[in-house]
Amino acid sequence: MNTTRSLCLLVIAMPLLAAPKVTFSEHIAPIVYEKCGSCHRPGESGPFSLTNFQEVSRWGKLIATVTQKRYMPPWHAQPASVQYRDERRLSDAQIELIQDWVKQGMPEGDAKNEIVLFKYHNISQFFSSSFFNL
Ligand code: HEC
Repeated sequence: MNTTRSLCLLVIAMPLLAAPKVTFSEHIAPIVYEKCGSCHRPGESGPFSLTNFQEVSRWGKLIATVTQKRYMPPWHAQPASVQYRDERRLSDAQIELIQDWVKQGMPEGDAKNEIVLFKYHNISQFFSSSFFNL
């Protein structure tokens, strides 16, 4: 009986869960970690870190402004990385997602996803930066 009731609640809740809501862990973390994390982390050129939900949401409004103006990520900060410039650039859809996220009050979403994404980002960076360049 309890199981049935739980299932009913789940089915009722599904459309609510599936609503097009922008969350940090699902939408914003992959963008910020990939496009901003190389500079906005301890020891790099960015003036503050953007390596977790607390840090990114603290700077959320400013991030929305600088990405919309395309002031960040910068184009000419690393002259040696010509071929990476386009990779670092944000697409219109990504800029839009950041705008929506800030407008919606910067919800975190499921923190479990966020941690996995960040670890994965670090591992891939480790392999591309030090492992293959021996
Ligand atoms: C190539 C390194 C680099 C990357 C990549 C980068 N930043 Fe920055 N960021 C900087 C530096 C250096 C500054 C400080 C100097 C400045 O404001 O231009 C800065 C400043 C900022 C500021 C403060 C601006 C202000 O007006 O005070 C924000 C907000 C910011 N970055 C957000 C981001 C976001 C969001 C991304 C990714 C979409 C990003 N940055 C990617 C290097 C970087």
